[in-house]
Amino acid sequence: MSYALITGASSGIGLELAKIMAEQGNNLILVARRINLLQDLKVSLEEKYGIKVEVRVADLSIAGEAKALYEFCQSRGLQVEYLINNAGYGDYGQFDTMKLETYRNMLQLNVMALTELTALFVNDMKQRKSGKIMNVGSLAAFQPGPNLAVYAASKAYVMQFTEALNFELRGSGVTVTLLSPGVTETGFVSRANMGDAAIAKGALMDAQSVARAGYDAMMAGKLNVIPGLKNKILALGSKTMPSREILLRISGSLFKDTSAQH
Ligand SMILES: NC(=O)c1ccc[n+]([C@@H]2O[C@H](COP(=O)([O-])OP(=O)(O)OC[C@H]3O[C@@H](n4cnc5c(N)ncnc54)[C@H](OP(=O)(O)O)[C@@H]3O)[C@@H](O)[C@H]2O)c1
Repeated sequence: MSYALITGASSGIGLELAKIMAEQGNNLILVARRINLLQDLKVSLEEKYGIKVEVRVADLSIAGEAKALYEFCQSRGLQVEYLINNAGYGDYGQFDTMKLETYRNMLQLNVMALTELTALFVNDMKQRKSGKIMNVGSLAAFQPGPNLAVYAASKAYVMQFTEALNFELRGSGVTVTLLSPGVTETGFVSRANMGDAAIAKGALMDAQSVARAGYDAMMAGKLNVIPGLKNKILALGSKTMPSREILLRISGSLFKDTSAQH
């Protein structure tokens, strides 16, 4: 029986992706740390859509957890047709004020777990000549992110990695899609403590629309999707900016801490 595996399915964009995949009749493997949220979601999706939902509690910021997740799927004979690497977080503030442990965890989750899960599942997909992967990046990947330096760099990795992999996979029957959301109304902003960042002050996109854009792109086998017109314009501005210094200054003002102005 084939499944869609979604990391970070307990809230935000991952939760909305789980609902969309379920609505389309896909069986699910839901992964996150908060077991109660995953269990409640399992019950409601199984009841509503008559699908099978497996729950796997995992802290993917711990080395070895991605491999253990793959082995869990293998041991239960769960064939992963869709892999959605969505779990991730940022931490807002000046680079030197953060704990080193925060960066280790963030890079393990945003970069290493995503890479390992892709490496483990892509081989099975290639053998079957079928499968779809979605990596959740960010608009933060399109330029350096002062006050969000490590997070933005981690998402730049996700962008470059996904684009290169997409090229390598052409003709294999397997596709990989990069979803690059702008600031979205989820638990992300509060976990990152970035409520006072200038960029988080305007109207935010809702997680449902972001998930829908990602789902449509993944199903169509598209490489890139940036949900929302404002976000598309911001990304285009970053890509076409002739001067890195000007780009950095604009980015510096978008990620500025507005609480310092009061
Ligand atoms: N919201 C935004 O503004 C925004 C913008 C651009 C990109 N993104 C990206 O979108 C993705 C989803 O974030 P979101 O906005 O939906 O935020 P969210 O509501 O905070 O969701 C994050 C999800 O990741 C899971 N997660 C966090 N740490 C984990 C860990 N160590 N191990 C396993 N799962 C973990 C969380 O579940 P548990 O806490 O239960 O583990 C949760 O389900 C992230 O990759 C984020 O970087 C978000």
